[in-house]
Amino acid sequence: MSNSTDWLYTDIVKDHFMNPRNILKDEENFQADGSGTTGNIKCGDQMQFVIQVDKEKGTIKDCRWRTYGCASAIASTSVLSEMVKGMKLEDAYHLTPKDIVKNLGSLPEHKIHCSVLGDKALRTAIDDYYQRNGLTDKIKKESARVICQCMNVTDHEIEEAVLEGARTYLELQERTKLGTVCGQCETEATELLNHYIDEHFGGNLKLI
Ligand code: FES
Repeated sequence: MSNSTDWLYTDIVKDHFMNPRNILKDEENFQADGSGTTGNIKCGDQMQFVIQVDKEKGTIKDCRWRTYGCASAIASTSVLSEMVKGMKLEDAYHLTPKDIVKNLGSLPEHKIHCSVLGDKALRTAIDDYYQRNGLTDKIKKESARVICQCMNVTDHEIEEAVLEGARTYLELQERTKLGTVCGQCETEATELLNHYIDEHFGGNLKLI
């Protein structure tokens, strides 16, 4: 097997990594209608996403982003920034890492979690737009509870990770990045992991 990581990535991923689109270079000259930041600079993968909104149409007119993330985070967010231009805010709000990966061709399994940074930052930017424009009823945080403060991971995301196959705390970390900074959320996250495995898979796979 090659020592190079080339074989892991599709040409689309490589292209977006080498030539990332819509990078935020000149913040002062990009009049953002909404701005969102996610991740934690302490672990080196912070992501900022800013959007301009066509208020008449309710669509994303333009966007920029920047990150300290890895190659996969860069490629994922680059492709995401192309996908969302012209898209309705509600549709952009519901994009998932899977949608992004589909547009990238594919991403190595262990790198899929890197693509969550972009879509989370995008949702935060849309929330910020809603907040600034008195549209707080559209903010979909309803019953979601933040479990990992450092990585802003909610109980909903833990449930989603279980539904997508996470069965151990390590797998949960891989998918959501929770617990990767101070670690204080581990006990509560593990309890929730067991709870959702029990709820959705009858407890057969419960952790000991
Ligand atoms: S609360 Fe710090 S890593 Fe989760």
